[in-house]
Amino acid sequence: MEVFRVLHLDDLLEAQPHRVVLDGQPILLTKIDGEPHAISDVCPHNGTSLSGGIVKEGCVTCPAHLWRFSLHDGQRQGNPEVRVRVYGTRLTADGWIEVEVPAAPTVRSLREVLLAHARGEDVNAPSA
Ligand code: FES
Repeated sequence: MEVFRVLHLDDLLEAQPHRVVLDGQPILLTKIDGEPHAISDVCPHNGTSLSGGIVKEGCVTCPAHLWRFSLHDGQRQGNPEVRVRVYGTRLTADGWIEVEVPAAPTVRSLREVLLAHARGEDVNAPSA
């Protein structure tokens, strides 16, 4: 896991999605009630960048087909079995946002995903 200093909290607008790429991982960073939140910027439906969506009521709406994801736990609203990765965030004493980025997830083939699903594994769980 690496920790990246990204932006000063004052430079991040409330409820505005901000895309960053850290260690090769596209991340949507935003501020809700003054607190930073970070989730994957890749919609699990079809790969659209979620940072092109609208942030409202603690969720971001994918601009492609309007799936909504919680910025707190990454769950798709109405279908919690689908979710995006949530990244840990913290503030330094002088107001900088730091994002915790685990190792990039392993890319699995469709065959590997189907076999994992057949074994009863959670195929939506983030892998390290
Ligand atoms: S690509 Fe995001 S809802 Fe379809």
